[in-house]
Amino acid sequence: RRLLGTAGAVGAGGLLAGGLAGAAGATAARDDVAPLSGVGSAALPFHGPHQAGIADPAQAHGHLLAFDLAPGADRKAAAALLRRWSATAAELTAGKAPKGDGTGIALDAGPSSLTVTFGFGRTFFDRTGLTARRPAALEPLPAFTQDALDPKRSDGDLWVQIGADDALVAFHALRLLQKQAAGTARLRWQMTGFNRAPGATERPLTGRNLMGQIDGTNNPKPSDRDFDARVFVPRDHEGADAWMAGGSYAVVRRIRMLLDSWDNLSQERQERVIGRRKSDGAPLSGGTETTPVDLDKVNPDGTLAIAGDAHIRVAAPASNRGAAMLRRAYSYHDGFRDDGAPDAGLLFVAWQADPMKGFVPVQRKLDRGDGLSRFLRHEASGLFAVPGGCEEGEYVGQRLLE
Ligand code: HEM
Repeated sequence: RRLLGTAGAVGAGGLLAGGLAGAAGATAARDDVAPLSGVGSAALPFHGPHQAGIADPAQAHGHLLAFDLAPGADRKAAAALLRRWSATAAELTAGKAPKGDGTGIALDAGPSSLTVTFGFGRTFFDRTGLTARRPAALEPLPAFTQDALDPKRSDGDLWVQIGADDALVAFHALRLLQKQAAGTARLRWQMTGFNRAPGATERPLTGRNLMGQIDGTNNPKPSDRDFDARVFVPRDHEGADAWMAGGSYAVVRRIRMLLDSWDNLSQERQERVIGRRKSDGAPLSGGTETTPVDLDKVNPDGTLAIAGDAHIRVAAPASNRGAAMLRRAYSYHDGFRDDGAPDAGLLFVAWQADPMKGFVPVQRKLDRGDGLSRFLRHEASGLFAVPGGCEEGEYVGQRLLE
């Protein structure tokens, strides 16, 4: 995807100048305010063959929301909502305030890499009389033995993913979309997450999760030959769900980390559980973060370099007949539980052209007991059909709803 703005170093230009202007006193002229630069100026286009927020790097702040259609809201009402939502998302991602927006929440901010992504849950199709056009890929996910799912925080008719490198910009989008849903759809659940902010580290490393691991290394990359085939429904897709051409399927799992037990492990044990070094993400079979993993490598003492139950062995495409997905997650922390443990973990979002060739077979295998599962609880789940992107003047889902 083309970056419309230019992302520079945080702290340069505008931010610094703004701070100095404040220090000089309230009466100082504003001609010392530099043009927007750095994090705020970066913009990702809303329009295009695929929706934004899939192949783009995950932003520092994220919101996941699911809505249920209000009683009586039909296909026409849903179409009008998607039209309103798409128009607003297009304006916000370009850094413009939509007409009539008096909230002021992001008044002086740039687009800050905002993306807004829309999807449909299985139940949407029955409620709108569109059951015949529901994709077969939206069959409910199988039950996994280690699931402890809360139905109130799972599923939903409509799904929205918001990401931005500024927290106010992300909240602004959330607030406007929620207000625009009034009368047509009610919020079912909302989850808020975060990642490292751009510019926070000396080198732009792959991000870390709350277990301290570098997470995302072996994701499919947009430059891979088979990236599109793995992540997106083919553009010439035909049949009753031809409207999904260029789309993708999002599996959403709220995965709590048992951080107290995890932190009690020695670093060596933690590294064996994943199969990679904590410091730099290098595989235990040797090399650097980006060195291909050698699952056959044997240590001098005869043991496997990457343990038999290491997460990267059990989850690897090579162990799952090629099954692969793009993991694009946000960390979350929602305070502490009654037992004092952090209510924290990963808002795991996996993108794939077909969940049966991505998330499902891999999670089936992990569920049978990789080394990491003992430290995780899957607490909520959703599967959403995310249509392809739209062009200017169109709205997301138009091919299904018009
Ligand atoms: C790899 C952590 C859940 C699938 C990794 C890596 C880490 C990690 C640190 C190694 C670096 C990388 O390649 O990204 C976690 C944590 C999880 C979690 C903390 C839960 C909180 C899952 C789930 C799935 C999954 C639920 C899928 C069902 C994968 C895959 C890889 C991977 C496919 C790449 C394996 C490879 O080809 O090398 N994960 N993971 N992970 N994980 Fe997870």
